[in-house]
Amino acid sequence: MKKKKRDFFLCYFESTRECNQDCKYCMTKKDISPAEKELSTDEVKHLIIDEVKKICAQGLVAFSGGEFLLRKDAFELLEYNSGKELYAFINTNGEVLDPEKIKMIKKATRGKIIFGFSLDSIDENAHSETRSSKPEEILKLARMCNKEKIGYFFLITVTRLNMNSLDKTLKFLREHNIPTLRSPFVPRGAGSSIKEIGFNKDDMEKTINPALRGNPLNYVSFTPFFASPEYMKKTWKLLEIPISTFGCQAARGFIGVNAEGYVAPCVHLLDSELDCGNVRKTPLSEIMATNHIMKSLADGSEIKGKCGKCRYKHSCRGCRALAYYATGDPLEADPVCFFEPEDENTRSDFETECNEKVAEFIRFLALNKPWNRIFRPTSFWAKLKTISWVLGTYKKSSGRRK
Ligand SMILES: C[S@@+](CC[C@H](N)C(=O)[O-])C[C@H]1O[C@@H](n2cnc3c(N)ncnc32)[C@H](O)[C@@H]1O
Ligand code: SF4
Ligand code: SF4
Repeated sequence: MKKKKRDFFLCYFESTRECNQDCKYCMTKKDISPAEKELSTDEVKHLIIDEVKKICAQGLVAFSGGEFLLRKDAFELLEYNSGKELYAFINTNGEVLDPEKIKMIKKATRGKIIFGFSLDSIDENAHSETRSSKPEEILKLARMCNKEKIGYFFLITVTRLNMNSLDKTLKFLREHNIPTLRSPFVPRGAGSSIKEIGFNKDDMEKTINPALRGNPLNYVSFTPFFASPEYMKKTWKLLEIPISTFGCQAARGFIGVNAEGYVAPCVHLLDSELDCGNVRKTPLSEIMATNHIMKSLADGSEIKGKCGKCRYKHSCRGCRALAYYATGDPLEADPVCFFEPEDENTRSDFETECNEKVAEFIRFLALNKPWNRIFRPTSFWAKLKTISWVLGTYKKSSGRRK
């Protein structure tokens, strides 16, 4: 029997606006309580989880908020999600977690669970600029997950308040083999009244991008990103790794849904003026297939400005959320990108470095659980090719180091 081609789809669902912490930049906070009610248990099951399963048999639901674990139906939803054979991410501040709760979540999800812990800096002072937790508490949660053999990653929201410690934070996480996702600060929710903490092009060039480039375990969705399109195409084809894993994933492998069911190409674009519909009115699978904003961002051929003529247009694509907040148009150029391409032939000086780090990142995904369960090729040949590619690139890179 011919197997279904592997794909990747992550629905980041802000399940509630309720929270037990009060981060000053929080993008989900609204001044007035929304007129509409948050999605009910049944709505989440059928309008989110069932639809994700329909869109991608190996899809994922990232449960976030507010604080998802405050929802009374959190365990019921996790059980339903794993009953559909889907992995769950839980993006959490960690306050309500303890060893007992972690064990219960592992049981409810039948092990198909990955935590995303928010840590803005390993440096306590920088972390406390934006969050009321302490880095040591987050590291303690990571140790609990190690004990239970549960996967996790750290989520760093990058602002001018923590960017100077970003390199130190990423080096620490690299040493501990902890993958990381960067969230660029956007002026959404409470963030809209403190726009000044957002970074600029100069910050990106001198401080943020060098730190991000240096840690390959951070290579999911960051921009500007300079891996060569030829290298990425060859690697993707060979290993069946979806294009949307790198660079901006908005509407490609990743979308957002807010607590009231409104959809956006990226979670950072929720509550904005972009009209991508509501799962209460239109099935998520239909929105993905027919909404013009989703379609044009997924396709990428209408991307404008320098991103539109850039060699890295598809492997990077520029942060569509930052483009929107700067211009009102998600198809415009990334405002904090420091690369100035004349046309599609202009190469970045960082291309070789990025290609080599992509190989390191793919090796990490292939060799470590649970990542090799999620990013796994389904066909026998792709599995075989992945193993020989991993061994081949590993030999090459260790040979070079001698
Ligand atoms: C809104 S929180 C909800 C999950 C959980 N309560 C927590 O604090 O991790 C999800 C992620 O969004 C990030 N975030 C919050 N406000 C943001 C903003 N204005 N721009 C970008 N990311 C933001 C947080 O740092 C966190 O990693
Ligand atoms: S718009 Fe793209 S690059 Fe920006 S945060 Fe969203 S997925 Fe990431
Ligand atoms: S110009 Fe746009 S696509 Fe090119 S590297 Fe910069 S952000 Fe990426």
